[in-house]
Amino acid sequence: MEKITLSASLSVSRIAYGMWRLTDDADTSAKHIQAKIEACLEQGITTFDQADIYGGYSAESLLGTALKQAPALRDQMEIISKCNIVAPTGIHSDKRIKHYDTSPPYITQAVERSLQHMAIDSIDLLLLHRPDPLMDADKTGNALDALIESGKVKNIGVSNFRPRDIDLLQSRVKSPIATNQIEISLLENSALTNGDLAYLQQHRIAPMAWSPLAGGRLFQDPRSPLTAKLTEIAATFAVDPASIAIAWLLKHPANILPVMGSNNINRIKQFSEALRVDLDRQSWFELFEAAKGQPVP
Ligand SMILES: NC(=O)c1ccc[n+]([C@@H]2O[C@H](COP(=O)([O-])OP(=O)(O)OC[C@H]3O[C@@H](n4cnc5c(N)ncnc54)[C@H](OP(=O)(O)O)[C@@H]3O)[C@@H](O)[C@H]2O)c1
Repeated sequence: MEKITLSASLSVSRIAYGMWRLTDDADTSAKHIQAKIEACLEQGITTFDQADIYGGYSAESLLGTALKQAPALRDQMEIISKCNIVAPTGIHSDKRIKHYDTSPPYITQAVERSLQHMAIDSIDLLLLHRPDPLMDADKTGNALDALIESGKVKNIGVSNFRPRDIDLLQSRVKSPIATNQIEISLLENSALTNGDLAYLQQHRIAPMAWSPLAGGRLFQDPRSPLTAKLTEIAATFAVDPASIAIAWLLKHPANILPVMGSNNINRIKQFSEALRVDLDRQSWFELFEAAKGQPVP
């Protein structure tokens, strides 16, 4: 599978696998998690997306248990994790309110915890999960640089940041911001027109797309015009409609990296099918029109 260069020290697979829903799976055994990772690796999907908060701060530990039992997997993977969302659950049950914390002590401790939970020595890419209105960019930037210098974090990036948020942080941190992970799908397509993707393209920062199938909402109503169009185009390529929705993202010149979230092993095995599909311009716009419910102006 094609790799996309995010920095001098990090290339990621064109499609990534996200572990947000890991704890929703009926089977959270180490063996089953290993099987999902292996199903990805077999297709060249080497990039795995985590966050400290996933599963109420428990998903990283599930991955850690799987990696401890199959240590050979780690070297075949690029592991992304995120921090700064503090929700009053799990390890943060003592907190009164959901909030963000980008203070140096918090993010430094969060990284230590993530490393311990995932049983790894370093995080390949650490993302600030959400823009924090109380972020002191000088202090947070220094803390991120210190994490890079310590070797505990190899690269830094952001998630759900707007262009000005990225400019601010980049002006105070030495390490280049390697990606912005944002919501992009046929149903959540505002990044295509609100300047977010334009900014990332301008700066040659490849975006990661979270919920690229809109969390499954694309397939809720098979009679919706969009699902019907996906199904119609899928038939012409002999792939499933989800592959067409992903191919729609892959077609965009910003080098969008979809982060897939299925727990279904059969669906996971099909992830790379999307790379077989090269949508022509009119089919791309047919899907855009169906998503918007009206022709482009
Ligand atoms: N940075 C952020 O703020 C942020 C926020 C949210 C997510 N993320 C990342 O993005 C990753 C992916 O998010 P996501 O899980 O929402 O992605 P997604 O791929 O858009 O949605 C996955 C969901 O769609 C369902 N689905 C997939 N194919 C389907 C089909 N053909 N028919 C019906 N349902 C289908 C899956 O069910 P099955 O399991 O049954 O296949 C699963 O529940 C997460 O794991 C996480 O790493 C990041």
